[in-house]
Amino acid sequence: MTAPAPPPSDIAIDVKGLSKSFGGREVVRDLSMQVKRGEIYGFLGPNGSGKTTTIRMLCGLLTPDSGEGTCLGFDIRRDADKIKRRVGYMTQRFSLYQDLSVRENLEFVARLYGIPDPRAAARDTIARIGLTGREEQLAGELSGGWKQRLALGACTLPNPQLLLLDEPTAGVDPKARRDFWNEIHALASEGLTVLVSTHYMDEAERCHEIAYIAYGHLLAHGTVEEVIAQSALTTYTVTGEGLSRLAVDLAGQPGVDMVAAFGNTLHVSGRDEVALDAAIAPYRSGRGTVWHRSEPSLEDVFIELMSRSKDNFQ
Ligand SMILES: Nc1ncnc2c1ncn2[C@@H]1O[C@H](COP(=O)(O)OP(=O)(O)O)[C@@H](O)[C@H]1O
Ligand SMILES: [Mg+2]
Repeated sequence: MTAPAPPPSDIAIDVKGLSKSFGGREVVRDLSMQVKRGEIYGFLGPNGSGKTTTIRMLCGLLTPDSGEGTCLGFDIRRDADKIKRRVGYMTQRFSLYQDLSVRENLEFVARLYGIPDPRAAARDTIARIGLTGREEQLAGELSGGWKQRLALGACTLPNPQLLLLDEPTAGVDPKARRDFWNEIHALASEGLTVLVSTHYMDEAERCHEIAYIAYGHLLAHGTVEEVIAQSALTTYTVTGEGLSRLAVDLAGQPGVDMVAAFGNTLHVSGRDEVALDAAIAPYRSGRGTVWHRSEPSLEDVFIELMSRSKDNFQ
């Protein structure tokens, strides 16, 4: 007998003040977040910033030292079992049994979850992820992109309400990453909530909302537009000649908080607009370069957040 599900709410994840230490070192600090149902929520941050630890606390695999909240309406401390049954969790470097076929892997998952007709469930999933014709191929022989699709198929086979995907596309080629994201959007449009961690900016831009975490602190969240607007960075885009020399000259000048090269352009940013304008004035009047006031990119914002948090938290 399963307990009756709590009344539906439009919030899938609602946690407050989560903290976790390992060996006396706090790796997640006072983290609060809300994820709406049916939304794709991107979780970004450098390696070691606490993304995986947070994901594990959200689904009841890890108990926070402090803080509280709900996942799918269930208490993350008391109802871990109920949460786990309704969540599909694709761990980092998730791989199925390499020496079982596509079909065998999926039937195994179906049996594990006690699904009444494992063969039919595996067949449906194979059709949905586009692996028809490859049923008997060993999982270990699939390309990286197909392995990830199979892994996603395995996570969604038990019909979860929430998907937790931990860097699902790390090391997957761009075409396969795009296919994978199309599938995530298709799942979300059917009402599934998706929390996905990633390092890729183009993936962040495909999320409904994002959060940026560094050194265990959640530093920014909202839509991509909101996160960029909150940053209060002033940015100039510079094109022309001698950009690498210019980058060296500008870096570290008072008022210049960040200089980053993007292809053939340089992004020069500062938190204090007046100080930035003063710092760049001598260079703007020089020949050979063209300066445009522009919006910071998401990457500019993240680099700036990280460099600031390094000063604050390390
Ligand atoms: N079980 C554990 N025991 C000790 N340290 C851990 C454990 N899990 C994670 N850590 C440490 O916590 C920090 C955050 O890790 P993690 O949540 O995996 O970050 P991310 O997923 O953002 O890369 C890292 O410094 C990591 O080494
Ligand atoms: Mg991780």
